[in-house]
Amino acid sequence: MVDAHFPGNGVAVADQPEDTGATLEICGRYDNDKHRMMDILIAVQEQNRWISPAAMETIAKATGLTRIEVEGVATFYSFFSQEPRGAVTIRICDDIVDRFAGLAEAVRAFETELGISVGQTSADGRFSLEYTPCIGMCDQAPAAMINDVVVTRLTPQKARAIARALLDGERPEELISAQFDLLSPYERAIAAVDNNIRHAGDVLLGPVPQDDGLRKAGYLRPEQIIAAVEASGLRGCGGAGFTTGAKWRFAAAEKDTRRFVFCNADEGEPGTFKDRVLLTERPDLMIEGMTIAARAVGAREGLIYLRGEYAYLREHLQSVIDARRARGVLGPDIMARQGFDFDIRIQMGAGAYICGEEGALISSCEGLPGEPKTRPPFPVNRGYLGHPTVVNNVETFCHVARILDRGAEWFHAMGTEGSHGTKLFSVSGDCLNPGIYELQYGLSIRELLSMVSGEDAAAVLVGGPSGTMIARDSFHRKLTFDDLATGGAVVVFNGSRNILEIVEYYMSFFVHESCGYCTPCRVGNVFLQKAIQKFRKGHADASDIEYLRTLSSTIIETSRCGLGMTSPNPILSTLENFPLVYSATTKTSEDGMKATFDIQSAIDGARSIAKRRSYIYDRDFGK
Ligand SMILES: Cc1cc2nc3c(=O)[nH]c(=O)nc-3n(C[C@H](O)[C@H](O)[C@H](O)COP(=O)(O)O)c2cc1C
Ligand code: SF4
Repeated sequence: MVDAHFPGNGVAVADQPEDTGATLEICGRYDNDKHRMMDILIAVQEQNRWISPAAMETIAKATGLTRIEVEGVATFYSFFSQEPRGAVTIRICDDIVDRFAGLAEAVRAFETELGISVGQTSADGRFSLEYTPCIGMCDQAPAAMINDVVVTRLTPQKARAIARALLDGERPEELISAQFDLLSPYERAIAAVDNNIRHAGDVLLGPVPQDDGLRKAGYLRPEQIIAAVEASGLRGCGGAGFTTGAKWRFAAAEKDTRRFVFCNADEGEPGTFKDRVLLTERPDLMIEGMTIAARAVGAREGLIYLRGEYAYLREHLQSVIDARRARGVLGPDIMARQGFDFDIRIQMGAGAYICGEEGALISSCEGLPGEPKTRPPFPVNRGYLGHPTVVNNVETFCHVARILDRGAEWFHAMGTEGSHGTKLFSVSGDCLNPGIYELQYGLSIRELLSMVSGEDAAAVLVGGPSGTMIARDSFHRKLTFDDLATGGAVVVFNGSRNILEIVEYYMSFFVHESCGYCTPCRVGNVFLQKAIQKFRKGHADASDIEYLRTLSSTIIETSRCGLGMTSPNPILSTLENFPLVYSATTKTSEDGMKATFDIQSAIDGARSIAKRRSYIYDRDFGK
């Protein structure tokens, strides 16, 4: 079979006429259904390597939409391109953890070997090189995606070898294993990416029996299942920590003939990669939890929204879904119980962090740009296609299956008051043992740092950029919903890291990922990023600190969704916990008034944290 990614004829794709028949065939594959727009565009992008105006026209006619509507979706997602991309597209993760792990040298090696710079496509159309935000591989950074294949722990040598192999015509899959085609879907997944499970707890990563939770749920009425989940104290693991049982109760109470259960596998928060490991190692448990949720709320249809960056896991997940159907634990009459019907499909994302927000996720599944929806109504009341929809995180569903098996009391007894059970933490950055730690809630940051061998830490980011950055004097604080809440990301930074560089990177992430719907988020984050650049250059004065605070609160108060409501957090938490970093980089104000602190002595204390030599040094000698 000819690999669609390797046409090999050297003809520039833009010069080839639009293959209307092939585009129509793709639309037909999805019943010309406008709600399957994501699948249609993904397939067209893969086939043509771009979504041309002519293809948009064809898709619009087939699905009964206007060209503008199709274009609105095609231009929203970063994995769709409006100009031809290379047959092999290398997307290099430019997360701050990757940068600190030697990304720049690996990039240079790719550029030199392929003869193109980041942002370019080679003249023969074979290669594109680009940056992409966090691809969920911070524990094995620097990393990149080569089409759907993930390569990790990049060094200049490894990047050079990869580029040469590709130039010699090797398929990206062969970079993972020469035997790739002979491997099972699971073997392919673990050949590409390490799980790095460092600590297995009792709930998720220890031994887990197959379908015992579902079997027990089969004997319970929906109301009893919801009561058990409520009694366990389980709170959502996707970041917001909403009580899972309560969410299900709302959905079950809605009068509707159709309800949905969606699994949020969009894991895009920089520094988070725990769902990646569950999707690899516990997909059965996750789908078991979804099936239990379906019984509880009366849903027959479900969906796993898998981020485009995890496309390498798709085949593995599909094989698990197929096996479950064959075993009678998914599909009609589950476990031979008449009328217990539930089935799911995978919906791929296409490179948009905002689609992890549940309203945006639903929009994306409906074939729309991934924009959050106005709330209320909430998804549990009116979600996918207007029907009640339960959206839960991958880890939450896994917990549910274990709770139904072992009982609510067992789960409730673990952790702390208000934060029950265990949690997966994705730990990365400056520590010797990055990876996945399943721990009961309540551990202190200091205890965690000792487990991960990150005792040199000067700063720890808990909960990703939308979370909190804490300094050494707060390492006694605990990982609970009431103290340091996190969807799972813990990023460790040692004293040699530049705090303002980190903050600026995270602001650039939010600028890139804002869906653009609200002005404060779209524009305000750009201003915040520019203001941080001013501090980094040593051009800020004391009034800029006030500016940061005022603008941040405006963005938080006026944004429509959680992205805007948390995007100033990298600034606010470092202003609070690393005040010297800001004051040390602040110059005398324009009106001639001295700032109210002694810059030089402040610099001495803060320089080790901010890793700034003096501004004069940076200006004269470059950084
Ligand atoms: C910008 C943004 C991104 C989000 N990304 C994710 C994500 O990748 N995975 C996830 O489970 N929840 C994510 N959430 C939270 C979801 O909106 C939602 O609360 C969650 O999926 C509910 O599941 P849970 O109750 O099991 O946590 C995100 C929220 C926001 C505002
Ligand atoms: S807050 Fe930002 S991401 Fe959320 S809807 Fe507004 S513009 Fe979009």
